[in-house]
Amino acid sequence: MDRKIRIGALISGGGSNLQAIMDACEEGMISGEIVFVGADNPAAGGLEKVRSRGIPTFVVDYGSIIKQFKKGQGKAVLPEDFDLDDVLAKQSLFAADSDPEKVRNFMMTRAVAEAKLLEAMEPHPFDLLVLAGFMRNLTPYFIDRINTVPGSLRIMNIHPALLPAFPGIDGYGDTFRYGCKIGGCTVHFVDYGEDSGPIIGQKAYEITADDTIETIRAKGFKLEWSLYPDCVRLFAEGRLQTVRMTYPLKSGKTYEGTVVKITPPPETF
Ligand code: GRF
Repeated sequence: MDRKIRIGALISGGGSNLQAIMDACEEGMISGEIVFVGADNPAAGGLEKVRSRGIPTFVVDYGSIIKQFKKGQGKAVLPEDFDLDDVLAKQSLFAADSDPEKVRNFMMTRAVAEAKLLEAMEPHPFDLLVLAGFMRNLTPYFIDRINTVPGSLRIMNIHPALLPAFPGIDGYGDTFRYGCKIGGCTVHFVDYGEDSGPIIGQKAYEITADDTIETIRAKGFKLEWSLYPDCVRLFAEGRLQTVRMTYPLKSGKTYEGTVVKITPPPETF
């Protein structure tokens, strides 16, 4: 791509990864610019960081939306284009044997919030949406409205563990408690599952006997701040291809999955 890519971001907390991406854009390492930052709670510290730079921000307060819904005021505000059966058929955030009532309520409350996110994002067209410490799972309702071109994924996430190990909310804690000797972080495209989408990049650190959860977190964050901008740069350079792969297994079955291929940089003379 010759022009700068437009990057939208969603955050929940301090936004140190967002900061790293913004810095990489400003330094010219990424040919891109942040066009909006949204948060799921008004206390997200990262919002302040970007307001002072004149970047548009918005908040969709997931907490109060979910509370209202639970009080029984929710049904009326479900988005008109929400199709519960379609979302339930596609989602893989919950296992098949999960409590169906719980799954339905989750999808409905999130879709109410996601419709508000989509509305707030509407005035700011973007090429890539980065989740930079956004602590909410996205449903197929939202994902399908972002990934509108078949085969072209454009929501990225950073996760504080070497996926597919330790998906979920506490990647560093899980890595530490399990007694891993290596930990790391992963950037991936978002699919319908939890931290399960095609992997774009990973970085790893060693864990030694004197490491604590705090030192592990510090090692991990340091890697996150270089990995995420690197992956966004590859996207901006048009070098990420998602490919459907099929492999025969010893059992006679086949393994099918989508993986990311990183294409080489164009030759320069
Ligand atoms: C990071 O550890 C990221 O991997 C995880 O949430 C944390 C966000 O930190 N998804 P920050 O808000 O970017 O500082």
